Amino acid sequence: MRIDVLTIFPGIFQGFFNESLLKIVRAAGLADVRLWDMRDYTDDKHSKIDDRPYGGGPGMVIMPQPVFAAVEAADTDTQPPARKLLLTPQGRTLSQPLARELAQEPRLMLICGRYEGFDERIRLGLHAEELSIGDYVLAGGETAAMVVIEAIVRLIPGALGHPDSTVQESFEDDTLDFPQYTRPPEFRGMAVPEVLLSGNHERIRHWRAEQAAQRTRHRRPDLAYKNA
Ligand code: ADE
Repeated sequence: MRIDVLTIFPGIFQGFFNESLLKIVRAAGLADVRLWDMRDYTDDKHSKIDDRPYGGGPGMVIMPQPVFAAVEAADTDTQPPARKLLLTPQGRTLSQPLARELAQEPRLMLICGRYEGFDERIRLGLHAEELSIGDYVLAGGETAAMVVIEAIVRLIPGALGHPDSTVQESFEDDTLDFPQYTRPPEFRGMAVPEVLLSGNHERIRHWRAEQAAQRTRHRRPDLAYKNA
């Protein structure tokens, strides 16, 4: 899949793109992730990208011209046109099912805002969807875009070492994960539950299902209710 990221702070992505998961999927050719600096597309001689809001109020609003120009440059780069997502707190909230849906797309374009937001004509004119990563306000869309990219890219077949890794995990069936243990069998007086050392796979499976259900009921009654 291809993901184009449009931002005015491309440097924020450097470490993220070049370490760990993103480094692996890019090197393996599983994801083609490209950065576009919207400041390169402004008509303004001072590379201005934002201006004061009509109607007054605090902060600055991203102007349509540099965003349209950058989107058009990225979109004509290859076919088909990308599904366009504006990162804003007003959007549909990211969830595991939405990450799965987005992971099926051949092309995504993530457009990162700053300041008080985007001129509304950007959403309207580009037929862009708004996407939020949660009910809190970040200083810009860049960190949100990284969250979205990581949630999607790890679902690409071959991205993670073990093919079952994304099947048996939190939220895939609206339950949280069961607790995990590794060596040593005892650490600072805390022992690994005996069942996990028993070698009895049926008992282990039962214990894990019970632990996952119990955690979900205690920590996320909203999910437990959905399952009832
Ligand atoms: N930009 C600012 N806050 C955001 C959020 N919660 N999700 C996505 N983009 C944002």
